[in-house]
Parts: sequence; structure tokens; C-alpha cells
Amino acid sequence: MEMWSRTVVLLLVTTTVTCTPLINELEPGKDWPPRNSVKQPSDYEKETSTFAEKEEVLPTGNPIEEIDEPEEVVIDASQPILRNADSWERKVDYSGAQVWKVSTERVSVLGVITRLRRRNLISTWGGNHSSIDILVKPNAIANVTRVFQRERIPIDVVIDDLQQRINDENPPLDANEIELQDRRGHRMTWKQYHRIEDIHGFMDYLAKTYPKIVSVNSIGKSHEGRDLKVLRISDGKPTNKAVFIDGGIHAREWISPATVTYFINQFAENFDVETDDIKNIDWYFLPVVNPDGYEYTHQTDRLWRKNKKPTRSARGCVGTDINRNFGYRWGGRGSSANPCSEIYRGSTPFSEPESKALSDFIKNSAANFTAYITYHSYGQYLLYPWGYENAVPADHKDLHDLGNRMAEAIKQTRGSSYQVGSSSGLLYPASGGSDDWAKSQGIKYSYTIELSDTGRYGFILPTSFIEPVARESLNGLRVLASQVAKA
Ligand SMILES: *[C@@H]1O[C@H](CO)[C@@H](O)[C@H](O)[C@H]1NC(C)=O
Ligand SMILES: *[C@@H]1O[C@H](CO)[C@@H](O)[C@H](O)[C@H]1NC(C)=O
Ligand SMILES: *[C@@H]1O[C@H](CO)[C@@H](O)[C@H](O)[C@H]1NC(C)=O
Ligand SMILES: [Zn+2]
Repeated sequence: MEMWSRTVVLLLVTTTVTCTPLINELEPGKDWPPRNSVKQPSDYEKETSTFAEKEEVLPTGNPIEEIDEPEEVVIDASQPILRNADSWERKVDYSGAQVWKVSTERVSVLGVITRLRRRNLISTWGGNHSSIDILVKPNAIANVTRVFQRERIPIDVVIDDLQQRINDENPPLDANEIELQDRRGHRMTWKQYHRIEDIHGFMDYLAKTYPKIVSVNSIGKSHEGRDLKVLRISDGKPTNKAVFIDGGIHAREWISPATVTYFINQFAENFDVETDDIKNIDWYFLPVVNPDGYEYTHQTDRLWRKNKKPTRSARGCVGTDINRNFGYRWGGRGSSANPCSEIYRGSTPFSEPESKALSDFIKNSAANFTAYITYHSYGQYLLYPWGYENAVPADHKDLHDLGNRMAEAIKQTRGSSYQVGSSSGLLYPASGGSDDWAKSQGIKYSYTIELSDTGRYGFILPTSFIEPVARESLNGLRVLASQVAKA
């Protein structure tokens, strides 16, 4: 157990702003933040602190530890070279890599996993208190198998060739679908995972088509200069409550933007016949918080998690975990000061343009948000604060009750089970999350929802899951809407 006190940093679970003019008739400034109220990145990008790229020492007792070493990506020189933003980068090849589910009921398992991580033979995906999913690198399969056999740790090979799964995940649309796309006026479907251009085109299309209820505004720009587009749906009643929903904070969690855009489509296309609960809310959607990372997962590395802003890493490590960069209890447990870590928290709170723009928008908005929901994957959890510490807010019973009712509605759709609890309690501490920050701003109903699945496909969820996952999630959201509308 001595090891626990030495090493540390756990990662278990995956776990510019120039405002463009409104493109419809809704009054600017009423619910949108006043123009130019959001700072330019250069205003806050004053990183004076230096950091040491070394292991941190956190309090003892973390069951799973991440050794902060850079991930070796598997590169196959025979792969085609793809055009990336401003450099030519090889596509990362995961041929032969496997994903295993490992029971962590025996404490010794965690030590074994830590050692394998340290040797850079595996990386961790998702997990909970009883099991963890690990990615085993192709050249390490024999050795890792031997280690688990020797320790008598049972394993379950869930994915036996990760690249095969990636190849099969998101096939091109058939000719009929493409023709439909052309006739519809936008390219978005829920039969495919779409690029950011299609998602933004869809949002603009809705604003143009339904100008009385839909408007789109860019609340800032990502590091690489992509718009952070928020779509609002509102009939403008002054008594309306407000709800903010985002997705795609983590680049590789493709089901999240797909689900959030499904909500947008449902509410915008059917507003007239929607329930009063839906109509009595001003809805704000930011489907892709991390557009740079999202595009990178399509073009170069399917399993990229962070944003794409360079760090001061001497080793050249890129990217901050946006969901460790929010400014409430920033820098605590479950985040890392090492830029090479998958849970790197950034140099300061809100050092990243994406978290900065999102938080400025919520703070400066005239809307009084009653709920903040951020969609992630995977694991099927409805999580409420706090994430930074194993503690709950004073009104945790309200959050738990509503969570249970949402989970029930999801279950009744097609049987999917979601567990409800505080993120630190059900999973592990993770500080700097957007949900904690939203709660700290007085937004009562703040949830992180980990969508499907529970690990059979993990992040590489085939497109046939998009509609069923989004549909059951919408039923959960309806329960939240009815609570918010009457609150
Ligand atoms: C942990 O995850 C597995 C699926 O991977 C699930 O079967 C199990 O119920 C979960 N356990 C807890 C305690 O959340
Ligand atoms: C696997 O184990 C052998 C023998 O212990 C060692 O020589 C080899 O380097 C190991 N492979 C990896 C990828 O660590
Ligand atoms: C926002 O809403 C809460 C609860 O609905 C209310 O207590 C608070 O006064 C409102 N604040 C503003 C500025 O309207
Ligand atoms: Zn996530």
C-alpha cells in the first residue's frame, strides 16, 4: 500500500472571442450576453507560472493511479498521411490494440494496473469501483496477459482489434441518404457521426428556417479559431426558465454531440407541438465545446480526449483536459499538473479559450439558468456535484431525486440502466469539472451525464446506437424539463 502514498494522480474514468451578430430577430442582449462582453484570449492568456513535469503527490487512498507519462501512440508507417490543419500528420493506427475489462474487486489488481501503465503497456479507459476497462497496446498483449495470469486476475477481452472497430464505427452514408441530405437544406443526420462543418451548418439552417424561435451565436473561438456555436430555442416569453446543455468537451466521446444535436432537431422542428414544459424554457445548446479536438479525432487520432492548445511541455505534449480547467476548486484531486497527462488541468483556471468562453457566457448571460447538463461518454451514469471531493451540496436530495426520475424515464424507453449519484462518490474525485463550476454559480440542477455504453464498445459506439441512445436521453431530458418548468 506504500505505493499509494507515493505516486498518484488518478485517472480512472474517463473518463476569441468575437461575437458574431445574431442572425435572426431575437433581441440581442436580452438573453444573449452583450456583444464584446467576452474577453479576448490574449487578455487572460498570461501564463507566468512554471511547472515541473513530474509526478504529483496527492493524498493517499486513491484506488487507481495514473502515472503521468506521455502516451506512446502506435504509428504504422504504412498508413496514409492525412491533411491536418497546418501540418501533415499520420493517422494513428490502433491495429492489434485490445480493450479488456478487468475486475478490480481485489485491491492488488490496482497495483498491477499501475505498474503496467508506468511501463506504458496499457492505458485506462473507463471504469468504476468494481471494474476498469484498459487499452492494451499490440506489442504488449503477450506480456500483459502473462502478468494477469501470474497474478490470477481474470480478464475479459471486450475488443480484440480496436482498429477494426474504428474502421467499422462510422461508415459513409448510402446514396439515398446523401440525396435526402441535399434536399433537406443541411447535411446532419443521426445515422452518422458528422464533422463540425455539418453540425454548424445544421445549426445555421435551423436559425434561418425558424427565425422566430431559433437563433445561433458564436460565444467565442477555440484555440485553432473554430466557432463555439450556441443555438438558442425560445419563444421569448419573459417567464421562461433557462437551461444550458453542452456536449463534446472530450473530443473522442462522439455520441455526445450526436445526442445534443438530436435534442436540438426535436425541439426546433416540432416546437409547435412540443409540451408546455419544453416551451416554457429558453434552451441553450453548445453541442461541441471542443471543436479542435473533435476534428482531430476525425482526422488523426480517434482516441484524442483533450483540446489542441500547445502547452509549455518540454516534451511537446499538447492539450488540456477542458473538464479539469474550470475555476471551482481547480487544481485538486483527480487532475494533473503534467501537460502530458490525459487529465492535465491547464496552467491556470480557465487558461483554455473553450472553458473560458463557456463560463463567461453563462456568467454574463441575462438568462437565469436553472439547469446545466453536460453530456459525456461512457458508462451510463447520471452524476451530480461535487466532483472535486467526496462531498455533496446541501440540496443533494433534490439532485438525487430528479436524477432517479430521469434514470427511470431512460429505462422505460428501452431498458438501459443508468446509475445515479455524486461523481466523486459513484466514481472518483475529479476537480475542475464544468458541473462543479456551474453548481458553484448557483445553477441548481447541474449534471454530468455519461451516455452509453457500459464498455462493450466504449468510445467507439457504432452509428446504429445514435438514435436509440439519443431517444432515451431525450426522455430523461423531458423529466428534467418538467421539474425546471415548475420550479
Ligand atoms: C461497474 O461497471 C460495470 C460495467 O462495466 C457494471 O456491470 C457494474 O455494475 C458497475 N459497478 C458499479 C459499482 O458501478
Ligand atoms: C515483454 O517481455 C520480454 C521478456 O521479459 C521483454 O524482453 C520485452 O521487452 C517485453 N515487451 C514489452 C513490449 O515490454
Ligand atoms: C434566478 O432564479 C432563482 C431561482 O429560480 C431566483 O431565486 C433568483 O432570484 C433569480 N435571479 C435573477 C437575477 O433573476
Ligand atoms: Zn468525458
